[in-house]
Amino acid sequence: WKAVKSLKSINICLVFSKMAAAVEMDGSIMEGGGQILRVTAALSCINGASIRIHKIRAGRSTPGLRPQHLSGLELVRDICCGNLEGGTVGSTEVTLIPGKIKSGKHTADPQTAGSVGLLLQVSLPCALYADGPSELCLKGGTNADMAPQIDYTIKVFKPIVEKFGVHFDCDLRMRGYYPKGGGEVVAKVNPVSELSPVTMTERGTITKIYGRSFVAGVLPYKLAKDMATTATRVIRREIKDLYINIQTLQEKDMACGSGNGIIIIAESSTGCIFAGSALGKKGVYADKVGFEAAEMLLRNIRHNGCVDEFLQDQLILFMALANGTSRIRTGPVTLHTQTAIHVAEQLTQAKFTVTKAEDENASNDTYIIECQGVGVTNPHF
Ligand SMILES: *[C@@H]1O[C@H](CO)[C@@H](O)[C@H](O)[C@H]1NC(C)=O
Ligand SMILES: *[C@@H]1O[C@H](CO)[C@@H](O)[C@H](O)[C@H]1NC(C)=O
Ligand SMILES: *[C@@H]1O[C@H](CO)[C@@H](O)[C@H](O)[C@H]1NC(C)=O
Repeated sequence: WKAVKSLKSINICLVFSKMAAAVEMDGSIMEGGGQILRVTAALSCINGASIRIHKIRAGRSTPGLRPQHLSGLELVRDICCGNLEGGTVGSTEVTLIPGKIKSGKHTADPQTAGSVGLLLQVSLPCALYADGPSELCLKGGTNADMAPQIDYTIKVFKPIVEKFGVHFDCDLRMRGYYPKGGGEVVAKVNPVSELSPVTMTERGTITKIYGRSFVAGVLPYKLAKDMATTATRVIRREIKDLYINIQTLQEKDMACGSGNGIIIIAESSTGCIFAGSALGKKGVYADKVGFEAAEMLLRNIRHNGCVDEFLQDQLILFMALANGTSRIRTGPVTLHTQTAIHVAEQLTQAKFTVTKAEDENASNDTYIIECQGVGVTNPHF
């Protein structure tokens, strides 16, 4: 057994009591990327059931595991004292044979700007079913492309998953940007006995809009100002009666590398939280970055749902695991969400339905996602 190569891991892990046939998952279907790997690995770990994922990222320009995917799978393997076969960069097939979920300190470091937010996405659900508190030390990009910014995780994702009974602290020790990474977040996660179902179907009115616009490293502070100014102007065209408070910041000691970006958050009278965000790239004007973030926020307010397009897919797993029926009101259902639903239905008994909302406040693209959760309980409680 490869995972039991050191005496230390023999002491702390009780591995492979049983070895049932692995469930097969085609990694190329639907979203066909990292999302399918994350949801599959987390559920395998929680259910204690082996999975084999093949055709990993088959349709992508660089098929197979990238460093950040491998790092996420290794993190899950460590949390559940499991064995990971085929775990190398470029691999298109992996098998995860989970053991028992273990509390304590776990570290993941893809050595790139791989997203710490996505590392948290795959590991947080696992740590909820441990025998005690966990400390997840996650390295990589905190504000990197193709993933939620860490500010989204802390300001939007965290307060909403608390409604399910998920409690964690997120200590942002260092920010890291594309391409170097170098960021570090330590998440302290408390285990749960089980998750509660959540209903978020009342949008209410928007009561607060705020955000942060930053530059780090060698980039001029003016970019932060320009992103914030444009974003504020764009939002004001549609939302006229609210003070929009976007802080502009020059990151100093707590940042590794150079980058710029913006996140704007809106809160509603009923406790819904939405965000729009964007990151700067070489050759992209700061006002375009600000514009993109503002448009994203407005798009997620217009549909009159309670959950934005980036939270949708992140809630699916918690809905599936919760004891009872959850309902969320949201905009168009994303491919990421459809993928998470597909995987959750394959690997658990959870049942999802998606229906169009047709009440007086619904727009033509308001939907309700409902889930009969399975009520997975933590055996250690
Ligand atoms: C529509 O919105 C109003 C104002 O927020 C609210 O009072 C009402 O309950 C909503 N109706 C439905 C069916 O959600
Ligand atoms: C799940 O919810 C049901 C209904 O609220 C409750 O009776 C049951 O005790 C819950 N299950 C657990 C394990 O707490
Ligand atoms: C929804 O309504 C908007 C504005 O009324 C329109 O531009 C859009 O095409 C509609 N979308 C669908 C899916 O019907």
